[in-house]
Amino acid sequence: MTRKKVLLVFGTRPEAIKMAPVVRALQQHDAIHPIVAVTAQHREMLDQVLSLFEIRPDHDLDVMRPGQSLDSLFATVLCRIGGILQQEAPAMLLVHGDTTTTAASALAGFHNRIPVGHVEAGLRTGDLRAPWPEEGNRRLVAPFADIHFCPTSRAAGNLLAEGIDPGRIHVTGNTVIDAVLDANARIAASPALQAALARQFDWLAPSSRLVLVTGHRRESFGHGLRQVCKALLALAERQDVQIVYPVHLNPAVRGPVTALLGTHPRIHLLPPQEYLPFIELMRRASLVITDSGGIQEEAPALGKPVLVTRDTTERTEALEQGTVKLVGTEVERIVGSANEVLDRGFPAGGLQSSPYGDGTAARRIAALVADF
Ligand code: UD1
Ligand code: UDP
Repeated sequence: MTRKKVLLVFGTRPEAIKMAPVVRALQQHDAIHPIVAVTAQHREMLDQVLSLFEIRPDHDLDVMRPGQSLDSLFATVLCRIGGILQQEAPAMLLVHGDTTTTAASALAGFHNRIPVGHVEAGLRTGDLRAPWPEEGNRRLVAPFADIHFCPTSRAAGNLLAEGIDPGRIHVTGNTVIDAVLDANARIAASPALQAALARQFDWLAPSSRLVLVTGHRRESFGHGLRQVCKALLALAERQDVQIVYPVHLNPAVRGPVTALLGTHPRIHLLPPQEYLPFIELMRRASLVITDSGGIQEEAPALGKPVLVTRDTTERTEALEQGTVKLVGTEVERIVGSANEVLDRGFPAGGLQSSPYGDGTAARRIAALVADF
């Protein structure tokens, strides 16, 4: 039997983490021959993930250039992925989420008449300015996609409301839950790995509560990011807290964060962490403060409370569950909410079942791709 050739395209860290389980599930499916093209919209942060999940791309476009505009990135990805689609002529193109890589690749699929499958389809805030430009990218992909893999029934409802054919919409769960449960299980099952991680983080104060922080959203660049940093400085006044902040490599993030937080004794700025060490930090955290989409999904699955430094979110299920709270970028609100969680605990604390999946999303997607 000839296997169905499926081309997966991704380019940033979160796409790689969330597509890695799909790559594996497609490799294990006897009716599918997966091919991986990475745009490398991210370089170092992508390579960390490729190496952990042992993904050797068939095509690496290496498009990251310092300071490049969204326009030039989009145009480069569109043309280069178009060329790969012509060369490979796959039966299906799979894209993920809402990045420039995603939108440009989906458009290339449409131009080249290759059926497009969209993983993590249907997320919406309803506000084109937040997250920017991701909300626009998601909406661009929806009409071009031939099959939509939604993480939740709410995401599926968003697509139905936009007039997408119900027969093309499938609720599969989010593959990030596959990834985080896999990482958590790998750590839990390996004393050698636990010992290596303990050595890696032996500088953490054992008696201090760990607050894990990330941030990179473009709509917060400038004022919003500075406010979040001020809130962290205020929170770090607490002697019982240590803040660990792996800083995104985008110069628009790294510059201000290093300038504002680089010297505080209880704030530890780290380079982007590999996935397993990052999950280890999450396992140890009392509180996560972030504007990341993926971390809003992962932390509740590990029973960790999250404050989201955004005004809106497309991941509303965990808000209702009570494990995630939107706090915006105002200093007082962030500090007040953080103190509340640290002092009184989170209303819905403790390990819960994730509203975003059960760890089997990638297998479901592989089965649907095979049947398409
Ligand atoms: C991108 C995505 C965003 C996603 C985020 C995850 C778009 C428009 N944005 O945002 O949706 O949430 O990734 O992190 O697609 N850089 C490096 N090395 C790296 C990665 C980034 O040096 O490994 C620097 C480069 O200077 C690069 C810059 O960061 O030009 C910005 O990267 P880019 O992918 O354009 O945007 P992000 O803000 O990372
Ligand atoms: N992550 C990681 N190392 C880090 C910070 C984050 O491996 O130092 C992981 C995190 O667990 C999540 C993903 O990267 O799976 C989130 O990526 P990011 O915040 O860059 O993008 P977003 O989720 O906002 O699109």
